[in-house]
Amino acid sequence: MDHTALLVTIDGPAGAGKTTVSKMLAGRLGYRYLDTGALYRAVAVAAQGDGVAADDDQGLTRLCAALALRLDGERVFLSGEDVTDRLRAPEISLLASAVSARPVVRQTLFGIQRAIGQAGGVVAEGRDMGTVVFPEADVKFFLDASVRQRALRRFAQYGDGGPSLETIEQDIRRRDANDSHRDLAPLKPAADALIIDSSRISAADVVDRMMSRILPLIDGDTTGSGPRPD
Ligand code: DC
Repeated sequence: MDHTALLVTIDGPAGAGKTTVSKMLAGRLGYRYLDTGALYRAVAVAAQGDGVAADDDQGLTRLCAALALRLDGERVFLSGEDVTDRLRAPEISLLASAVSARPVVRQTLFGIQRAIGQAGGVVAEGRDMGTVVFPEADVKFFLDASVRQRALRRFAQYGDGGPSLETIEQDIRRRDANDSHRDLAPLKPAADALIIDSSRISAADVVDRMMSRILPLIDGDTTGSGPRPD
């Protein structure tokens, strides 16, 4: 393994800008980007397709045992079918949040996530990356932002014809409550995570802050600029 291939985790609530920042950071580092929310969303799509309710543990156990989930770059495949374009539907967001509270789902995805992240060279985005899935990660971040700011960002993403700002805020509060108060892997910063509030700073500035924490760990480069000495 390349000794500079670090494992970087980015956790935080919905709409804090994790996806934008994680992709930018992975691009800067030349690392793979692992979107673990997409895995929970894929399970939700599978559950919806099979008519399995989020509180039907037997059904979810069957579904997880037969789950043929494959990632190809940023595309997500279920039993060979590309379901990427269905992952962001509002009902899938709520169902993903509900199924993510079920132990069998978390356990199934735990193995898939570890298999991808263990070798390093990965920026892993989610809710429990630094706390549960990769407690040994080299660098951990927790990205936060105010509910209003997060709702405004989602509102802009939906564009015309999307839900109202109030509806989006309500959705965010509901998902925050689900994600933070569940018994299993609740959303919280790892003790050794650097917490960054993105409410008032741009994604590029967030990435710069992250890079200044990461660069000293790569080849002893403490300057964050200029060519590496060799
Ligand atoms: O990041 P996202 O909005 O795409 O995540 C979808 C849902 O999956 C979210 O409600 C919380 C859940 N999730 C989780 O429990 N653990 C993760 N590591 C990633 C997502």
